[in-house]
Amino acid sequence: MANITPLLIRNARVLLPDDRFEETDVYLENGRIARIEANLTATENVRVIDAAGLTLLPGVIDPQVHFREPGLEYKEDLFTATCACAKGGVTSFLEMPNTKPLTSTQASLDYKLQLAAEKCLVNYGFFIGATPENLPDLREANPTCGIKIFMGSMKGPLLVDEEAALDAIFSQGDRLIAVHAEDQTRIEERRQLFAGRHDPAVHTEIQDNEAALIATKRALRFSKKYQRRLHILHLSTGEEAELLRQDKPEWVTAEVTPQHLVLNISAYETLGAKAQMNPPLKYPRDNEILWQALHDGVIDFIATDHAPHTLEEKSRQYPDTPSGMPGVETSLPVMLTQAMAGRCTVQQVSRWMSAKPAEGYGIPNKGKIQVGYDADLVLVDLENYAPVLAENLATKCGWSPFEGWELTGWPQYTIVGGQVVLDRGVLDTNVRGKALTFV
Ligand code: DOR
Repeated sequence: MANITPLLIRNARVLLPDDRFEETDVYLENGRIARIEANLTATENVRVIDAAGLTLLPGVIDPQVHFREPGLEYKEDLFTATCACAKGGVTSFLEMPNTKPLTSTQASLDYKLQLAAEKCLVNYGFFIGATPENLPDLREANPTCGIKIFMGSMKGPLLVDEEAALDAIFSQGDRLIAVHAEDQTRIEERRQLFAGRHDPAVHTEIQDNEAALIATKRALRFSKKYQRRLHILHLSTGEEAELLRQDKPEWVTAEVTPQHLVLNISAYETLGAKAQMNPPLKYPRDNEILWQALHDGVIDFIATDHAPHTLEEKSRQYPDTPSGMPGVETSLPVMLTQAMAGRCTVQQVSRWMSAKPAEGYGIPNKGKIQVGYDADLVLVDLENYAPVLAENLATKCGWSPFEGWELTGWPQYTIVGGQVVLDRGVLDTNVRGKALTFV
């Protein structure tokens, strides 16, 4: 830490914790934000970034990603994924347990943490995956941001949909439980019903709004029974949002992905199976209700569910196409473009993508530009627009559902623990992040 060059960011439009923008200087030292004051002077050993015309935001905390290492590195690995993070202004991520081996024991968690320390350009945290059999691991594994339960749309040991197994997990321990809420029984019934259909749009009919609603109701029921901290991952339907609007205990949070806000079933026409994900994209009506729920605080924050698959895999015939799309590289520009179009404010985007995920997962000292906070920051350009181009992407999968979209808010500099990892668009691949802590 001692050898990080102190950094003075001059003349940026800085988003302050009280939601004001102020043209001021920010001085970073020893990985922290040391001063926020106008007209700071730099001594000899300080690097100065002239950020005139740029907006300084807290680094994005992406609380749901699938980075594929260990075991599925042909799709993505921790190095390529975090290059994509740095390009997208994502300075911390929470990663899911469906790697090989599964992250369902202390040993597999330790292994992932070791790989991450070697390879990650940004800060990292990992979920521990629930199986019907690993209750002691779920109670004791450390450090972890929480327990992940796939209540549906999963095969193998990570699928937990039996009443008794769910009850046991919710009843024991007190750490956060994050659920993928889709009802497996209904999904399997509807797979039979729609067997023989090969257009990817049928995915939304199979894993329909009702499948999501049933599982979200079920997770809420268990959470209320034990007053257990619950987080509902990637909410995708208006029905779930309306349910939470009526009935959301204070210990429950929910998230939505950018793609569930800005894409819907019409995306299958242009993207085919690239638009296929779990839970599936829904309908324009769902987009509207999810936006409103986000504005009203019924939905607390944004996650990408970055889930890369190769183009070859995506070009197979449905249902042999895997579900999931990449997101860390485009999430901030997608949301800032929405803000500039008047759908929300830049302040809201930052709250949903930085402050609120930090709060929800108890990540100390992150998510705000405040003296004493960690120097995880992103300088974005809100004046120019540039298209998403496949050839510019750092994700190993090499594609994005947003290719061709003209976006603003592209990160110019990304700073992780006071280190410049993206420098006027160029990556410094020697930078490493740190393991996140959770309180
Ligand atoms: O679309 C998805 N893909 N949703 C998930 O929950 C899993 C993910 C993956 O790992 O591919």
